[in-house]
Amino acid sequence: MASYLQIADDEKGHELELFCVPKHYENDLERVIIPHGLIKDRTERLARDIIRDMGGHHLVALCVLKGGYKFFADLLDFIQVLNQNSDKSVPLTVDFIRLKSYCNDTSTNSVKVIGGDDLSSLTGKNVLIVEDIVETGRTMQTLLSLLDECNPKMVKVVSLLVKRTPRSSGYRPDYTGFEVPDEFLVGYALDYNEYFRDLNHICVLTEEAKEKYKV
Ligand code: IMP
Ligand code: MG
Repeated sequence: MASYLQIADDEKGHELELFCVPKHYENDLERVIIPHGLIKDRTERLARDIIRDMGGHHLVALCVLKGGYKFFADLLDFIQVLNQNSDKSVPLTVDFIRLKSYCNDTSTNSVKVIGGDDLSSLTGKNVLIVEDIVETGRTMQTLLSLLDECNPKMVKVVSLLVKRTPRSSGYRPDYTGFEVPDEFLVGYALDYNEYFRDLNHICVLTEEAKEKYKV
């Protein structure tokens, strides 16, 4: 597996007061673990690595909704910048799929496709799956087997985050932004029951907030 930025288990992160967070979340967050600027810097490098490896052919970027949308948008912006400024460029098209596997802060056993494009259009294509976070790996393994039925030419996976957890199936994406401790993270489109997508930094939730937004 390619390299990634490792965030240690004892990483203290940063005090909330040092950054701008929406007023409505101020009491719900423990600390900032990955500031927005660092997410962007790491994403820029992932774009370069991906184009180096996959840049020969038309690329279909498949966004896993909803959590992947911020990372997807920023990653594709960086790929576009590379396309605009080099002698070689890759035609890029986009597809979307919506999966759901989470309730409160727990990954459930069933991964459901609840919307998105028809995957059969991916036959014979080079596909880059763009995901927010891999925890057990079940979501990605389910998606990969669904995609396999459509016979794409090549499939690679980029995940912004991979969680270090004993619940992991051992699955690892081809490209990883950060490896993070086994905590529930929100922000930069990662949600807790749909809240906290409207927060730029990746943060750790307080236990009180888990109760407050529980369904
Ligand atoms: P997996 O199937 O256990 O690998 O979980 C993957 C999915 O669960 C991700 O696509 C996320 O949508 C969600 N998820 C896992 N961990 C977190 C987290 O810490 N915060 C928010 N969502 C998470
Ligand atoms: Mg996701």
